[in-house]
Amino acid sequence: MPEDNNIFLIGPMGAGNTTMGRQLARELNMPFYDSDRFIEERTGANIPLIFDLEGEDGFRKREQAAIDQLTSMHNIVLATGGGAVLREVNRKHLSERGTAFYLYTDLKFLLERTRKDKNRPLLHGDEDPEVVLNRLMEQRDPLYRQTADYVIDTGKSSIRGVIKAIIDCLDNNSTERNK
Ligand code: S3P
Repeated sequence: MPEDNNIFLIGPMGAGNTTMGRQLARELNMPFYDSDRFIEERTGANIPLIFDLEGEDGFRKREQAAIDQLTSMHNIVLATGGGAVLREVNRKHLSERGTAFYLYTDLKFLLERTRKDKNRPLLHGDEDPEVVLNRLMEQRDPLYRQTADYVIDTGKSSIRGVIKAIIDCLDNNSTERNK
C-alpha cells in the first residue's frame, strides 16, 4: 500500500472517473483534480483542439507531464483520462504515488454514456464507436488492472454505491485487494 493518501481513479471513457472523483473528493473533503481539465487549463485549448493540432502523440506528452505533476501532490483525488495508463511511466506513478481504483465498466454502459459526447476525439473518427471502445478495452483492461489497487464494478451500483465501495476499500473493510 502506498504511503501517500492520494486517491487515483482510472478507467475508460464513460466509466465516470470525473463524476465519481468530484463526488468522492467532496465527501472526503479533499481537493479534486482531473488530468484532462488540468491539461486544458495549462494549454488554453480543449482536448479536441489539442488532438487536431498536435495529434494523439502530442496529447500523450502533455498527459504524461500532467500526471507526473498531479501525482506528486499529496492528499488529492485525481480523475484521469481513459488513456492515462498507456505509458509505463504513468502506470508507475499512478500505482506508486497513491491508491488507484479501476472503475471497471461494461462495454454497453460505456457506449450509453459516451453516445452524445463531442469531446472525445478517439470516438469521432470514421470507425464505429462500439468497435473503437471494444478495441480500447481489450488493449487497456489489462493495463488498468495491473495499475490498480482495487477494481470497482460501476455497472453494479449507483454513483453513491461506487463512492461507498471506494470508501470501504480505503477503510480496508471490504473487497479484496487487486494486488
Ligand atoms: C482518452 C480519454 C479522454 C481524454 C482523451 C483521450 C482516451 O478522457 O483524455 O480524449 O484515450 O481514452 P476521458 O476518459 O475523461 O473521456
